[in-house]
This record gives sequence, C-alpha cells and structure tokens, in this order.
Amino acid sequence: MKIAVVGKGGSGKTTTSGVVARTLARSGRSTLALDCDSNPNLGISLGIGEEATERLVAVRDAVDAGEEEHASSADDLVERFGVTAPDGVRLAVVTAIQNPQPGCPCCGISPERLLGELARPDRVVVADFEAGLGTVMRLDGNPVDVVMVVVEPTPKSLEVGRRAAESVRESGLGRVVVVANRVRDDEDAARVRAAFPGLEPVLVPDDPAIMDAERQDVAPLDAAPDAPGVRALVDLADSLLKAG
Ligand SMILES: Nc1ncnc2c1ncn2[C@@H]1O[C@H](COP(=O)(O)OP(=O)(O)OP(=O)(O)O)[C@@H](O)[C@H]1O
Ligand SMILES: [Mg+2]
Repeated sequence: MKIAVVGKGGSGKTTTSGVVARTLARSGRSTLALDCDSNPNLGISLGIGEEATERLVAVRDAVDAGEEEHASSADDLVERFGVTAPDGVRLAVVTAIQNPQPGCPCCGISPERLLGELARPDRVVVADFEAGLGTVMRLDGNPVDVVMVVVEPTPKSLEVGRRAAESVRESGLGRVVVVANRVRDDEDAARVRAAFPGLEPVLVPDDPAIMDAERQDVAPLDAAPDAPGVRALVDLADSLLKAG
C-alpha cells in the first residue's frame, strides 16, 4: 500500500504521518516511512528523537556535499540512509538534494517516484511530502492507493487542500482521504465539509497533548496515546487497514 500525505505548510502532515505509520506497523504490516521534506522532521513525530533525526539529515547532506557515497539502489538508500523507529517502522530521509546526479537511484529521482519504487505487496509506504501543491503535480504518473489531504479549518489551508484533492481526482492518482486537523468545534467541521462535498473528512481535534509531546521530544503516540487528537489519527490508520 502506498500512502501520500500532502497539504499546506504546517497543516499537520508530519504528525499525521508519524502516528499513522506507527499504527500500521503495530498491526503487523511492514512499514516504511519516507521523509520527503527539505526540512526533515518525521523522525521526531515517529519518536526517534531530535538528535537521531538530525543524524539522518546529516547523512543526506553529506551525500549532497560529495562526502558520502551515493546509494546503489532505492533499497540500498533505505538501508544506508534509514533507521528503525519504534514499532519497527523503517524511516528513510529522501529529500531532494541540491546537487542530484541525474538517474541516480538515491538522488536523481523524485521522492514521488521513489514512493512507487519502494512499495511492495507486503509493505506499506507512508510518504510525508513537502508542503504545497508541487508534490501532487509530481505524483502525476505515479499513482498511489491513498492521498491523505491534511487541512486546517482555515481558508488558506482549505484552498490548498481543495486544489490538491481536485488534482488527485482529475488525474486518478488515488483515493482521497481528507484529514481535518485541529478542529475546535462544529463550525470548524462544517467549514471543512463544505470545502470537500461528497468526501466525509476524518476529524482530528485541536489537542494540546500533540504540541506538548513535541516540546518534550517524544512521539505523540508515546506521550499521550489516549489524547483525543492521537486517538483520531490511530482510528484513521485502522480505517485504512480495514479499507485494504
Ligand atoms: N491536532 C493537533 N492539535 C494540536 N497541535 C497540532 C495538531 N496537529 C499538529 N499540531 C502541531 O502543529 C504543528 C505543525 O504540525 P506538523 O509539523 O505535523 O505539520 P506539517 O504539515 O508537517 O508542517 P510542515 O509543512 O512544516 O512540514 C506542530 O507543532 C504540531 O505539534
Ligand atoms: Mg512536516
């Protein structure tokens, strides 16, 4: 299963990716999490901590600077530039680098294409993409099973999400799941529903426990597994498993 996580900057993509990936892994699925952001921080949401996250980023930077060998294949990339996070999630940083070598399996192809190459029938890949619509455009020709469009109930966030969902639908790239993050009340929920007619959004409440976890450099799933925002994301992952 291939899952792409998209949305406006700061909408909650990384938080969602982290909780969903670990929940899928807990269900026994082999799970690979790809950090595709040029400011990679999925490691923090997965619970490996800030230092280990920075080490992974440093390796990627070293490849860019020509101080580290390139990986010989996509799988080698996951092996060499990855780490195993809690619940057995394999995390790899695959951000685009400044000086890619065209065609190189570790830096010369887009993270959007890598997502397709790394998927296996017995493996779930969750890709935490860069903010904005560019990534959705680059997915063209690289269909996925699910595109999670993460939105906050604000006009700007909803507009990016609406355009992303439309583009995914038009190109038949995958099933859209709208994640309405940081919902505070019925009005927020209604705003999101109005922006995505025909799609029932998954509602994730605004939850101070999520920010508190980040302050403590702990994954939300470890710091506050029963907090309403975390539970909503766990339920979302469970629903993906049920849908196949
Ligand atoms: N439901 C929530 N309730 C409260 N805070 C949240 C919630 N979801 C995310 N946050 C907080 O909002 C901030 C942004 O979340 P996150 O980093 O997941 O967004 P993002 O879309 O990945 O951002 P970027 O575009 O910068 O990669 C973080 O500080 C996170 O802890
Ligand atoms: Mg992020």
